[in-house]
Amino acid sequence: MQVVATAEKSESVRSRKSKETELLFRKYYDKLTVNQELSRALVSNQANKTIPFYRWLKYKEAFSSALVRFFTTKFGFGKNNPRILDPFAGAGTTLTTATKEGWHAIGIELLPVGIAAMKARLKADKVNIRVFEKYLSSLEKVSLESLESSYRFPHLRITEKAFPSKTERAISAYMSFLNGINERDVRYLFWFACLSILEDVSFTRKDGQYLRWDSRSGRTLKSNFDKGRVHDFRTAIIHKLHMMLEDIRNRNGGSYSRNVKIVSGSCLDKLPNLPSNSFDLVLTSPPYCNRYDYTRTYALELAFLGFDEEAVRNLRQALLSATVENKCKREQLLAEYRVRGKENFYSMAVNAFYNQRALHEILRTLYRARKRGELNNNNIPNMVENYFFELNVAIHELARLINPGGHLVMVNDNVRYHGEDIPVDLILSDFAVSAGLKVESIWVLPRGKGNSSQQMGAYGRNELRKCIYIWGKPE
Ligand SMILES: C[S@@+](CC[C@H](N)C(=O)[O-])C[C@H]1O[C@@H](n2cnc3c(N)ncnc32)[C@H](O)[C@@H]1O
Repeated sequence: MQVVATAEKSESVRSRKSKETELLFRKYYDKLTVNQELSRALVSNQANKTIPFYRWLKYKEAFSSALVRFFTTKFGFGKNNPRILDPFAGAGTTLTTATKEGWHAIGIELLPVGIAAMKARLKADKVNIRVFEKYLSSLEKVSLESLESSYRFPHLRITEKAFPSKTERAISAYMSFLNGINERDVRYLFWFACLSILEDVSFTRKDGQYLRWDSRSGRTLKSNFDKGRVHDFRTAIIHKLHMMLEDIRNRNGGSYSRNVKIVSGSCLDKLPNLPSNSFDLVLTSPPYCNRYDYTRTYALELAFLGFDEEAVRNLRQALLSATVENKCKREQLLAEYRVRGKENFYSMAVNAFYNQRALHEILRTLYRARKRGELNNNNIPNMVENYFFELNVAIHELARLINPGGHLVMVNDNVRYHGEDIPVDLILSDFAVSAGLKVESIWVLPRGKGNSSQQMGAYGRNELRKCIYIWGKPE
């Protein structure tokens, strides 16, 4: 991978900054390198769309398995039983790619949708192909309309009217078909196939912060959005199951389930329990500070998983703060660190947070703008503050967990609010330094991200950096 010289950095890397941000920029200027080989496809889930197993669920937040392979090769070379951790494991790209490369992998994830995708990939290792084929062929012969079922799709308020009524009946009949599958792993994979097509057979589309609704849904809507084809359930499920079968048949004895451990829960809660100096590499991509609410975009899947309104609210609050609805977790974190007897560690992290001057300069600007009524949502400053507070605690834990000589690689985007560029890459790198890590590089994708159309009018076009940070723990 060729990294271009610092001097060739595009002008887009530079942008309007206030005093402390400028100082921070200067501090890490020589670490910022535009890496021409980092295409969006490599860093986003785009590349996974055609990759066996990874193509089963459209998990937009995922990075590609090619990216994971790049880093496991770079940092695993010559290591015996290398160990990798992903504290925001998503659909588990890091875990299953790394284990195929001989790594022991642990992933922590809170959203059950990602966990379901990981489990499906792991179960595919063991599943009996003949039994899978048998049930697929009987599904193809059966008329779903003929199956009696007491199952009703357990809608949340925000998923009501998501499916045409014919589809709702077909899902119900399919659930009754699943009850007849005796083999547990096959039943799970057939269930997962249904979870993974919910968006395709619905009037919704996952769209960043929201679930967008097609006007055919019969909901009262402001816009006249047409998502295009709404797939027929039967065709979609059979197509998905064939895709899964094809991947399972072609796995060639390759295994995903060896040496993978999935921990379900919040990494803020789970990281403190892991032993120090126990991983050679942490490779991760946390939620971005972009107001995207996973509990909204994945509402259909959460409903299908049996989440009621309260469970969804609790899940939203437990996720890393990245939406305007997240409440502050500081009191709760402090109490938990007290119980663990790790108050000193926590104070160290909190000090690093308060000493990050550029962040506090930005926060002051945002709070002032709020006071003047200039923000389109008054919770934006709190969201930004909580985001950095929580991620800083996580970074301190991760720095503790890495072996001397090991690395932490993080994929994240910069953001902008009220025309104020927030250099997430530099602020988090500075936290990493406070936690005892060394910033080796901040790789910048050749094409950043434009600002939102809302902000474009007021502040003009200015690209935000999309980056991969590489931090090392000194020997
Ligand atoms: C950008 S995605 C990571 C995607 C992952 N790299 C992949 O390839 O699938 C961020 C993930 O962090 C998860 N997450 C958010 N808050 C969390 C928390 N407190 N603990 C663990 N996971 C969390 C989200 O559910 C989401 O799946």
